[in-house]
Amino acid sequence: MVIEKICCIGAGYVGGPTCSVLAYKCPNIKVTVCDRSKERIEQWNSPKLPIYEPGLDEIVKECRGRNLFFTTDLDPAIIEADLIFISVNTPTKTFGIGKGRAADLKFVEACSRKIASLSSGRKIVVEKSTVPVHAADSIINILTANTRPGVEFQVLSNPEFLAEGTAVQDLLNPDRVLIGGEQSDAGRQAVEDLCWVYQHWISRDKIITTNTWSSELSKLVANAFLAQRISSINAISALCEATGADVSEVAQATGMDSRIGSKFLQASVGFGGSCFQKDLLNLVYISECLKLTEVASYWQKVIDMNEYQKSRFAARIVERLFNTITDKTITILGFAFKKNTGDTRESPAIYVCKYLLEEGANLHIYDPKVEPKQMMTDLTSPMVSVDPEKVRELVKIYDDPYSAAAGAHAIVICTEWDEFVRLDYQKIYDTMLKPAFLFDGRKIVDHESVLEIGFHVETIGKRVTRSPLLRADPA
Ligand code: UDX
Ligand code: ADP
Repeated sequence: MVIEKICCIGAGYVGGPTCSVLAYKCPNIKVTVCDRSKERIEQWNSPKLPIYEPGLDEIVKECRGRNLFFTTDLDPAIIEADLIFISVNTPTKTFGIGKGRAADLKFVEACSRKIASLSSGRKIVVEKSTVPVHAADSIINILTANTRPGVEFQVLSNPEFLAEGTAVQDLLNPDRVLIGGEQSDAGRQAVEDLCWVYQHWISRDKIITTNTWSSELSKLVANAFLAQRISSINAISALCEATGADVSEVAQATGMDSRIGSKFLQASVGFGGSCFQKDLLNLVYISECLKLTEVASYWQKVIDMNEYQKSRFAARIVERLFNTITDKTITILGFAFKKNTGDTRESPAIYVCKYLLEEGANLHIYDPKVEPKQMMTDLTSPMVSVDPEKVRELVKIYDDPYSAAAGAHAIVICTEWDEFVRLDYQKIYDTMLKPAFLFDGRKIVDHESVLEIGFHVETIGKRVTRSPLLRADPA
């Protein structure tokens, strides 16, 4: 089967960039990306895309209208497609069985029903969204139970490993592509058909083919391992602060062992993003359902350590500011869950802000890419506050870091944006109340030089102490 037309349901952080790169690399394939959100599709069709990803604008500009289309008109796109990606969101359930842990598959199910009702002939359905193991079973069941005679479906698992902020590079040059399918002739053929699409730009030896369940589980495991490394180094950061070791030095010395490797050992205020916590919770839930209690509690600890790290950092801010921050002004630099993205899902900044708001602080927030509306939505959500009016009184959002810092008692860096490394900290210091505090939750500032300016500095995994030779607070 030659794949000539691809439809992608879900124009989010996964579907949008993935299909843009696919269209860019496969000019012979027509790629239609659909979303039920009219606003999102309008943004994909406008000069300002709904998500910020370095390099994405150029790719979309080149392909849009040629072989890449964004639309809310799902039905014709499904009908004409040879292959359909399901890239809808699978949030953690907030109600019922598995509340707070299991992935909610209602959007995946809705897509499956839609595909079943519209399809004729042979179709390959690919789950791209991260799903629990055996989600493909549910898709197959829904498809086959609702299918007209003569229609033949193959369901594949093809998890996406892109990281936000580097999505385009990850897609152009992935470490591997994973495709799982049914162990039958028809299943193997469908896997080969999808391999053919990727082989437009990825060499065959980087494309791994497995059974469906291995593929689904591998995605959860990859994210769990990455998150585990961060929780491990964060656990060590607490030990470093207590002993006087420097966690960056420990990470370097440890990571240079080629068996361990140096990546994902950057201690921080904690990990965020839409995947790590969700996938870990999912793994814990699956393990519990299978009565693997020890396995579940092992992975639960990775989440617990992340919570500990976020709360430890937030508590330290209050403690250092003389145990009271009521009516004090604190500047939050960075609200995205990592640099080079405008995404705030599970951002540690939200946790830190929540903690500081509960203590009655005024917050001045600046982030180079997060929309102010998004910050307010996050901070007034019921998960953060029961009093959204109060939050609106306490929070002010700024469009430059210097105005955000003027008159503040402290600065808190929550995201590792490059521009925060290069700020004129002397200029910032001069406009702040004294003593001026700097809490570096990402270890990105040159601590010696800000100490010299006069800041009191706190960071992760290292005691930053003033040398007796440095002058005291000039103020
Ligand atoms: C992750 C996986 O990396 C990706 O393969 C998967 O497809 C989706 O989930 P993402 O969440 O976009 O990607 O970003 P990632 O770079 O993994 O960072 C996740 C969080 O961990 C961020 O909050 C980041 O700041 C934090 N982090 C990362 C650290 O605190 N320390 C590190 O050393 C690395
Ligand atoms: P991810 O990070 O997994 O890509 P996002 O929330 O960014 O998640 O994107 C998922 C997209 O899927 C959203 O834009 C949402 O509107 C869309 N979506 C969810 N369900 C459906 C559906 N049944 N039909 C079309 N689009 C859908």
